[in-house]
Amino acid sequence: MTDEEAGSEWLLTTERCGAVRAEGDNEVQQNESAGAGVPTERIDTPAEGGALIARTVAAAAVRDDLAARAAQLDAEDPLRGKRAEFVLDEAVYLDGNSLGALPQAVPERVREVVAREWGELRIRSWSESGWWTAPERIGDRIAPLLGAAPGQVVVGDSTSINVFKALVAAVRMADETGPAVDGVPRDEILVDAATFPTDGYIAQSVARLTGRTLRPVEAGKIPAEVSDRTAVALVNHVDYRSGRLNDLPRITAALHEAGALAVWDLCHSAGALPVGLDAHGVDLAVGCTYKYLNGGPGAPAYLYVRAEHQARFDSPLPGWNSHADPFGMNPEYVPAAGIERARVGTPDILSLLALEAALEVWEGVAVEDVRAKSLALSDFFLECVRAYVPRGRVRSVTPEPHDERGSQVALECAGAGEVMGELIRHGVIGDFRHPDVLRFGFTPLYTSFADAERAARVLAEVVAYVPGDGTASAVAAGAAEQGPTTM
Ligand SMILES: Cc1ncc(COP(=O)(O)O)c(C=O)c1O
Repeated sequence: MTDEEAGSEWLLTTERCGAVRAEGDNEVQQNESAGAGVPTERIDTPAEGGALIARTVAAAAVRDDLAARAAQLDAEDPLRGKRAEFVLDEAVYLDGNSLGALPQAVPERVREVVAREWGELRIRSWSESGWWTAPERIGDRIAPLLGAAPGQVVVGDSTSINVFKALVAAVRMADETGPAVDGVPRDEILVDAATFPTDGYIAQSVARLTGRTLRPVEAGKIPAEVSDRTAVALVNHVDYRSGRLNDLPRITAALHEAGALAVWDLCHSAGALPVGLDAHGVDLAVGCTYKYLNGGPGAPAYLYVRAEHQARFDSPLPGWNSHADPFGMNPEYVPAAGIERARVGTPDILSLLALEAALEVWEGVAVEDVRAKSLALSDFFLECVRAYVPRGRVRSVTPEPHDERGSQVALECAGAGEVMGELIRHGVIGDFRHPDVLRFGFTPLYTSFADAERAARVLAEVVAYVPGDGTASAVAAGAAEQGPTTM
């Protein structure tokens, strides 16, 4: 059944239901044939049935309008051809901010790496198949997406490990610049107060190891809070929970003004919006590749070290891969000259090369186009949520202004865990963050406007029967009409 057929089935089923006398107060049933949770309300009198039909017809008109708009936006989308480069199914996949979809090119490439490079060439592949240089080569492939010139990004290890490397190295660089003012050393590290937990845990450990104090500060307040005591600040570019985009140029400039360094976590921004690391003078940055870069589960992360800092980058994990002469096997450590010194041990070749194949989808794609579509998608989704979801049932915690928003929409919703479970059951895949946030990630390379419309429509259907605080009685009292939503 197509989506349009499902829509007319929805109307028909609801009308049919209007003629049926049934027990219960506006109980919501599932229409399995529609492929999604479609509400059919039970009513008590013919008069109520008439009102219901009128409401249903009005709702169908709104829905037709939004569906038509979605079709038009999809037809005009310059990135529309990219969707075919991914393995997708009937589901609406809005979890690319957690795990990106599989690019079509990856399975065959992984098969080739295993069968030919490992199976046949074996040890020769370290040189003949370019395994040894993969971390820098793939770093250079990611660099343009971060606004970085070549030679500054290396791929390997997890984001957590790269946070550790970056933060300790930053503190060591700050040490080199000596005491700040009147003999008072730079004795504090600032961390984004809303940070993804791993960054916070590691920052605590780095503070203990380096004898600093860790001070959590709201990202937007860092320019006011930074001082000549600050060695470095670790900030998330896009907040994983709310989707808020922090002002990287302003915060970085304020840190520099105070003589401190800026370490940015780009997990939720790289591949979704322009980052401009070089242009904004960022010192160090880290990020994962399994979200908007579609590298696959547990794909290796990356570390950016600004070219002018590389000679001073003193890694706290100086593994043999970062040695100037790794095969010299010298007992004495001499760091490699360039970004190689940010490596640690033997790279995870299978994951690295899967990532490299996944990055082919970026061929010919401008990050600016991705950003334009990301904003249009999330705007359209919010418009559909407002049109479909019962008033007061969800509240957006993602800022409305474009320059404060990443590529996800986070909706606070009572009963969010159960709501997301039902959404997934009905083919809309987002995720849920404790205690009450529904997250919907928009991945412009493969998310369509039709996906956004369907997700909002199914959300409306689900919240109509999953009780939230106080809303179960509101639904029972017939208050669950279409209308503006408190966002
Ligand atoms: C902002 C942010 N930082 C760090 C991480 C964790 O990275 P890893 O588990 O790859 O070390 C995540 C994971 O989702 C994240 O969203």
